[in-house]
Amino acid sequence: MAQNDLFKKIIAHTKEYGYIFQSSEIYDGLAAVYDYAQYGSELKNNIKNYWWQAMVQMNENIVGIDSAIFMHPTTWKASGHVDAFNDPLIDNKDSKKRYRADVLIEEYREKIQLKIEKEVKKAAKRFGDAFNRDEFVATNSRVLGYQEKIDKLTKRFQDALEANDLDEIKQIIIDSEIACPVSGSRNWTDVRQFNLMFGTEIGSVAGESNTIYLRPETAQGIFVNYLNVQKTGRMKIPFGIAQIGKAFRNEIVARQFIFRMREFEQMEMQFFVRPGEEMKWFEYWKDLRQKWHFALGFPQKKYRMHDHDKLAHYANAATDIEFDFPFGFKELEGIHSRTDFDLSQHQEFSGKKIQYFDNELNKNYVPYVIETSVGLDRTFLSLLSNAYTEEKIEKADGTDTRVVLKIPAPLAPIKVAVMPLVKKDGLPEKAREILKRLQFDNNCQYDEKDSIGKRYRRQDAIGTPFCITIDHDSLTDNSVTIRYRDDMKQERISIDDIEKIVNEKVSMRRLLEKL
Ligand code: GAP
Repeated sequence: MAQNDLFKKIIAHTKEYGYIFQSSEIYDGLAAVYDYAQYGSELKNNIKNYWWQAMVQMNENIVGIDSAIFMHPTTWKASGHVDAFNDPLIDNKDSKKRYRADVLIEEYREKIQLKIEKEVKKAAKRFGDAFNRDEFVATNSRVLGYQEKIDKLTKRFQDALEANDLDEIKQIIIDSEIACPVSGSRNWTDVRQFNLMFGTEIGSVAGESNTIYLRPETAQGIFVNYLNVQKTGRMKIPFGIAQIGKAFRNEIVARQFIFRMREFEQMEMQFFVRPGEEMKWFEYWKDLRQKWHFALGFPQKKYRMHDHDKLAHYANAATDIEFDFPFGFKELEGIHSRTDFDLSQHQEFSGKKIQYFDNELNKNYVPYVIETSVGLDRTFLSLLSNAYTEEKIEKADGTDTRVVLKIPAPLAPIKVAVMPLVKKDGLPEKAREILKRLQFDNNCQYDEKDSIGKRYRRQDAIGTPFCITIDHDSLTDNSVTIRYRDDMKQERISIDDIEKIVNEKVSMRRLLEKL
């Protein structure tokens, strides 16, 4: 299936089956804002639990907090967000559409990359088994020409970004003959910087001094609480503080469904270490965070690490874990070595000493920080992209297709569907009796409407790993049919064994043990 079609199907599926709705849809929606529906919110909660348990529960030196979304305005001055949390924007004068200048250039670069891939594909077809990709891209003159173009563009773009030279960024767009996708014209305005923070007023009086911001990252809520947590938790370095929460960014080019939203959730952890030991811990967290994604059991080739060429002024190393979304490899998680930048800035702006006394070294210092920051919504989208499967199934009266969400069982919104074969003869009562038992441990669903085949399809579409069917024999032999989502196999089992079979498969322990 073409990736674009896959993406459209996933979006339609999430709406049809109660995973995600457009926010305020009855008023035609609000761009780049989404609501998680009955199954979506369950899946989201399960992802949060998986992250929290992996980070907080499984690490004796990491604790979790839940800080407020509103923070003192000086926080954002100290962190650098007021002055530098900007996107370079450009408008097309004919279509009146606004774009991120850096995205226009990156998309142009990707187009050239696609031309290389096209040449490679053509050659692979021509040479068959004898084809050697490395040799081809190192020698083919057309590919070399494209590569040179990419390298020159990348260098020029990076220099312009580093020098914050907005005129040069515009010149790159003009020289590259990039046209507006809507009007097709190259009639561009100048590039200007646009701050991504949402501001609002606190109290009853409007004005500059009352402006506060909706946090653009959860990390600062951790930094300003560093001293409180370290002291009250008697934490010894190295230690971490984790947090899950909402963040807000006034994204101008908000596209790609829940990938880039204006209101989203982050799962962040700041790990405080001795200065000089940050690279060791950076590698440690890179490895562990990869494992967290891999433990979900999807193909590892869907993930790749991308080291940043250009580091933020406060970082001395940074890597993204990228995922192969239906629209290509994009950032899923960032792992950053943030030095002592944030704590030092808060120390300076607050006038409070933010230091750690290291007994072993017998000295005070501002700790260095390794940050792991993963988007909850992007993790959700990566899971759905992996889990969405269309399968042809052979039936006595021809073939049929089923859509199934192969979500890892511990994260599935509904773990078990309990179904009486018919709505009479005491089967519903028996089914509800079983349901009541299972509900103590798991989110279950009772379903008695439509044929059993239709009910199985419905559960496949929402990703329920187990269906339990109660038939007339169940009333006398204490057994039921269990049907497995992924291979559709059915087995006769004793009612007494249901909990054991289900609980073993849906336990979060299955994921945590792989870390
Ligand atoms: N504290 C570091 C920080 O905020 P970031 O790379 O800007 O770093 C971290 O964001 C993660 O948050 C990203 O890897 C991504 O998963 C998620 N994220 C960022 N902006 C987002 C948006 N507009 N919509 C959804 N997720 C977003």
